[in-house]
Amino acid sequence: MRTFKNILVTGGCGFIGSNFVRYIFDNTDYTGRIVNLDKLTYAGNAESLSDIAARIGDRYVFAKGDICDKALVSDLLERFDIDGIIHFAAESHVDRSILGPGEFIQTNIMGTFVLLEAARKRQAEGKSIHFHHISTDEVFGSLGSEGFFFETTPYAPRSPYSASKASSDHLVMAYHHTYGLSVTLSNCSNNYGPYQFPEKLVPLMILNMLENKALPIYGDGLYIRDWLYVTDHCEGIWTIARNGRPGETYNIGGENEQTNLAVLDALIREVAGQAGRSSDALHALKKTVPDRPGHDRRYAINCDKIAKELGWKPRTGFEDGIRKTVRWYLENPTWVQHVRSGEYQHWVDRNYGDRKTLVSAKA
Ligand code: NAD
Ligand code: DAU
Repeated sequence: MRTFKNILVTGGCGFIGSNFVRYIFDNTDYTGRIVNLDKLTYAGNAESLSDIAARIGDRYVFAKGDICDKALVSDLLERFDIDGIIHFAAESHVDRSILGPGEFIQTNIMGTFVLLEAARKRQAEGKSIHFHHISTDEVFGSLGSEGFFFETTPYAPRSPYSASKASSDHLVMAYHHTYGLSVTLSNCSNNYGPYQFPEKLVPLMILNMLENKALPIYGDGLYIRDWLYVTDHCEGIWTIARNGRPGETYNIGGENEQTNLAVLDALIREVAGQAGRSSDALHALKKTVPDRPGHDRRYAINCDKIAKELGWKPRTGFEDGIRKTVRWYLENPTWVQHVRSGEYQHWVDRNYGDRKTLVSAKA
């Protein structure tokens, strides 16, 4: 088993990254430090980890900055003697990549390149370093009604987002094959759960229902995704980062294919039940809107490899996960209000003053 003393998590203020940091401190035996490097784009909210920052002390360090900043990345690796990089930071929303691909190319490709170069330098200096790269099932393209994505499925990305992720995946594997860098890579399906920015299907629909706003369904609503509760993904990532074979990729999925309409119906049931709303009134909010250009029809993950090699399986059933997710959004109106109003962007300034480049939780 690989062990780490100081891990650099990138994008730890985003949806999956913040859940991962929380998972590590609350659910694992990891005794080392996590340095969280995050640029705090519109999708990054340092407030999502405010309780961790208060509780964990020096073992959690937040560094506001860009993964494309070569000097900052090298400085962090050296200063904190980083021996593990778990790389989440990315522009992650497909619709935004269609409207403006530039940031996706910069962060997802160039940012990954900067991190890989910094890791390669550490390795050349004789330091131990392992790089785990978080990727997506979208790199495999779109399926018809049959079949699954395997680790061996050829890449066929179809949106600027998935093309940028595919490119970063290729770079990661190239650094393994060319420079012998210790890397692992995971391709995961759609995540849902707490702290997800409400541009993605699940939180957008929950919050629109609570505010009696239209529920926008792209096209016929029969697009299929494989839905995975975010904590299960975090567990899979930790399993691979510690036990995955160097140079290998692992698929992570929920074994839970749903059409978007089925997801919406499950959300309506839960919101109606938990918030005491009329389900007929919620159904009446459904509205068909123009489809996403190049919309991938179906994603479905085969995750036998991680099950057989590393013993990981998804734990959370869909109904249970949706119940927990709806409850979280109902119980966290302040987080929602800050995210919806843009208030979260000021949280770092208020809590860390002007020491933005490198600030520790205790400082
Ligand atoms: P997110 O958009 O919620 O968060 C991204 C985080 O990265 C934010 O905190 C943002 O501030 C930060 N960031 C963006 N650009 C940065 C930069 N240049 N430097 C430093 N930080 C930067 O994303 P997410 O949904 O949590 O996804 C995390 C990772 O998981 C991404 O790599 C994504 O491709 C991958 N992934 C996501 C899903 C999903 O369903 N959300 C599924 C599979 C894989
Ligand atoms: O498959 C993994 C990917 O899942 C990740 O790599 C991406 O980072 C993540 O954003 C997600 O991509 P999707 O495009 O599948 O997620 P999104 O929540 O945007 O959309 C899910 C489905 O719902 C998709 O078929 C489009 C549809 N949709 C989405 C929105 C926001 C709607 O019908 N209406 C909407 O308003």
